[in-house]
Amino acid sequence: MINTQESKVQLEYIEKCKALVAERYDHQPAFFIQNAGCQMNSLQTETVAGIVKKMGYEEVSREEDADVVIYNTCTVRENANLKIYGHLGHLKSIKKQKKEMKIVLFGCMMQEPEVIEKIHKDYSFVDLVFGTHNFHKFPELFYRSLNTEGQIIDVWKESDEIVEGMPADRKYSFKTGVNIMFGCNNFCSYCIVPYVRGREKSREPEAILQEIRELVADGVTEVMLLGQNVNSYGKTLENPITFAQLLQQVEEIEGLKRIRFMTSHPKDLSDELIETMAKSKKVCHHLHLPMQSGSSRILKIMNRRYDKEKYLELVQKIRTAIPDISLTTDIIVGFPGETEEDFRDTLDVVDKCDFDTAFTFIYSKRSGTPAAKMENQIPEDVVKNRFDRLLSLVQEKGRQASSRFQGTVQEILVEEESKEKGIYTGRTEYNLLVHFPGCRDLLGKYVKVRLDTCKGFYYFGTLVEE
Ligand code: 5AD
Ligand code: SF4
Repeated sequence: MINTQESKVQLEYIEKCKALVAERYDHQPAFFIQNAGCQMNSLQTETVAGIVKKMGYEEVSREEDADVVIYNTCTVRENANLKIYGHLGHLKSIKKQKKEMKIVLFGCMMQEPEVIEKIHKDYSFVDLVFGTHNFHKFPELFYRSLNTEGQIIDVWKESDEIVEGMPADRKYSFKTGVNIMFGCNNFCSYCIVPYVRGREKSREPEAILQEIRELVADGVTEVMLLGQNVNSYGKTLENPITFAQLLQQVEEIEGLKRIRFMTSHPKDLSDELIETMAKSKKVCHHLHLPMQSGSSRILKIMNRRYDKEKYLELVQKIRTAIPDISLTTDIIVGFPGETEEDFRDTLDVVDKCDFDTAFTFIYSKRSGTPAAKMENQIPEDVVKNRFDRLLSLVQEKGRQASSRFQGTVQEILVEEESKEKGIYTGRTEYNLLVHFPGCRDLLGKYVKVRLDTCKGFYYFGTLVEE
């Protein structure tokens, strides 16, 4: 359900905070913000940054210099949680010197009851905590926090509301992500996302199209449509539409040059989508298709609802329809009960699929998920050994896959100056990173570059035509 009244209320709270901030500080107030996790989190981080800027704060790059420190948290693997506790330890000492500093935590990790208990008990210097379901309430919660010394914790279990139209502070003026849906209904047995992000909700196509039209009017030429499982987009809408149909409508938007999307679940990837991608002039020929494991036995226990053969068939079908497609994937190593034979199936699929990149993860036990209760957890040394073997195969295959572009001329969207002065960086439609000598005027432009030297996962090239 879209709630336009709510966004009006929140916009009013932004104005109230702005007035309060203007009278409270005798210096230019500053905020520090840090993002963890997936691209959907980054987008919410940009929204919060946009809101606090509207309130009158200026962004700084060190916590020490900030009046407000904000962390958007992730909890997909335990490491992400440990990092946040580390940051909080550091903030505690800063806040001792700077009592009026506000500390704000939000995002997926805050949806976990044990985390909230710990923050309440051991981290009482944190001022404001909210979760994923009341994210849209940030201006109101921040206003309350500005008016109190105490800790505010407001985390909701679920919400069916989608609030549209909040300001955002985009990292790039020419490309951005656009949420098309929230939550996930798949309950893969290792994954905490359905518990912290709730049930799948799709945005209305018209709201998405309108947002993209506005972004294009504002200079955006590349969008990334985001959802945990974009292939099931639109199924729960009052007037259901398919993801492929949405893509066709987005394609019609004049001025938009590139369309990307993620993430695709192999079980829901339709022939209609493959056809749409093959025909489209704007949808980039890059598909992120997480396989998670190559073993049919493990995939079943993971509750992925496809097996090794189905995955291989799907890849074959995609490559036949779109021969130049770039495929990337996610793989988990060390899922409970994974045997050497299961692991070899994973190596076998990696060997057969020619992924451009594979993101490899060591299985992380997430409490509350079915896999966490499984008895046959894999010893650390065995997992480490498998992880290293997988990584070396992934890298070798990645280098082979990238080498197909050697000497070709590709169109890239120029994104930024690299760490080295005068060297600029952009991406091809295949999401391949290219560095080349250039100048500032090229930022946000599409240029042709010859890919001269393959450096593994990126190329060094030269401009051939502006
Ligand atoms: N342990 C390790 N990796 C995980 N992922 C999700 N949950 C876990 C977990 N418990 C990985 C999956 C997913 C990616 C975003 O994170 O590979 O595709
Ligand atoms: Fe997690 Fe599976 Fe949903 Fe992806 S599809 S967010 S891995 S439950």
